[in-house]
Amino acid sequence: MGVKLRETESPSEMGKIIVSGGKPLNGEVEISPSKNGILPVIAASLLAEGPTSIPVIPNLTDVDTICEVISSLGVKVNRQPPGLAISGGQVNSVEPPYELVRKMRASILVMGPLLARQGRAVISLPGGCAIGSRPIDLHLKGLAAMGARITLGAGKIEARAPTLRGSRIYLDFPSVGATENLMMAASLAQGITYIENAALEPEIVNLADFINDMGGRVEGAGTNVIRITGVRELHGVVRSVIPDRIEAGTYMVAAAATGGSITLKNVRPEHLQSIIFKLRETGTEIQEEGEGSLRVTGSSSLQPVHLKTMPYPGFPTDMQPQFVALLSRAGGTSIVIETIFENRYLHVNELVRMGARIKTEGRTAIVDGVPALTGTRVRATDLRAGAALVIAALSATGDTEISGSEHVDRGYENLVDKLIGLGAAIKREP
Ligand code: EPZ
Repeated sequence: MGVKLRETESPSEMGKIIVSGGKPLNGEVEISPSKNGILPVIAASLLAEGPTSIPVIPNLTDVDTICEVISSLGVKVNRQPPGLAISGGQVNSVEPPYELVRKMRASILVMGPLLARQGRAVISLPGGCAIGSRPIDLHLKGLAAMGARITLGAGKIEARAPTLRGSRIYLDFPSVGATENLMMAASLAQGITYIENAALEPEIVNLADFINDMGGRVEGAGTNVIRITGVRELHGVVRSVIPDRIEAGTYMVAAAATGGSITLKNVRPEHLQSIIFKLRETGTEIQEEGEGSLRVTGSSSLQPVHLKTMPYPGFPTDMQPQFVALLSRAGGTSIVIETIFENRYLHVNELVRMGARIKTEGRTAIVDGVPALTGTRVRATDLRAGAALVIAALSATGDTEISGSEHVDRGYENLVDKLIGLGAAIKREP
């Protein structure tokens, strides 16, 4: 495809994706089960006395990691493609290995279930990540309110609670992870817990549905007050996970950016409203095509928009990098404000290397659209920044080499194959 690879490719080079840009995407793409839906559900399987199975799971490295985390606690996990079976029952450790927790911040989601089932959890501080410091103070404050004794030391957090008691908890910020951790802990606590200012994301509702199918009593998920009545024990469950709204949004933006026309299958339009509305503002056409499918048709002239990321149902922060890639070719100036994470513009410098005209000032990005981006060598720094670079490369003139593709594989199942199925000229380099 004409991209000249460095002769002196060091063996330590990470995975690469090579894209030959300028081809409109056309055809049909099937959306996979949600990464951010499945991670808390696999953690919740620790709450059950018996086995849990999920009929279809996405082939993602983050799913591999959470499975390694619960296996490290002594739970039996076996992949029965396309699904997953988890033994449940007793665990023989309450401390997942540091290298797993460091690899994926969502490992913190085992804390609530371990505390509820074993009365103790020891988690290495997850540390920051590329997009910000991402503290866990809201998780810890909620668990302490339920009676857990929290001690910090030597890079680890230990939580102890012979029994957890229902409590009224207020979240200063509607944190997705804190809402999930506290919901799981409260499901086996003595008494009733209220989580006020809870996160409203669909993945929260998905988790509540799982816990209720396991015999739990969670009411109000999807609203900002969730009431959890603790029960004595939870049993295993067989249940599917909602489709991945961020994967869907990413393909919608890719279609808009390449001026193509694609149909997405297995989507929940009700989870995509803010993305649909914002895309329509850019001039992109979107129609619901019957049960669980959407048709997205890019326009020949992209309009600039003002974008502000907010907790659900606001515009999702996980779609901000992809939108910045799209808006870098709009016919005018767009203003983007990222309110959730303090450092989520790592994709901007790479887009500027492709000819984008973007200035960031704190949480604001000013995107002056240019007629075209030019393919070159770029590097993915995190999952959604990587997705943004793929979108930019698909719409650019010429070839682009994206290194750090392992970031993209954390959250996009079979990305290259799915894009080839939509007519993209894209391949992987080892
Ligand atoms: C979840 O992360 C998602 N990850 C993220 O998706 C998503 O960006 C985020 O929610 C917001 O929607 C998973 O679901 C596995 P938060 P989480 O707790 O739970 C601050 C992706 O690309 N905060 O809602 O970590 C925090 O610093 C990933 O798929 C505290 O201050 O997000 C951040 O600024 C990236 N104290 C904000 O809240 C806390 O105790 C949102 O964090 C917890 C969070």
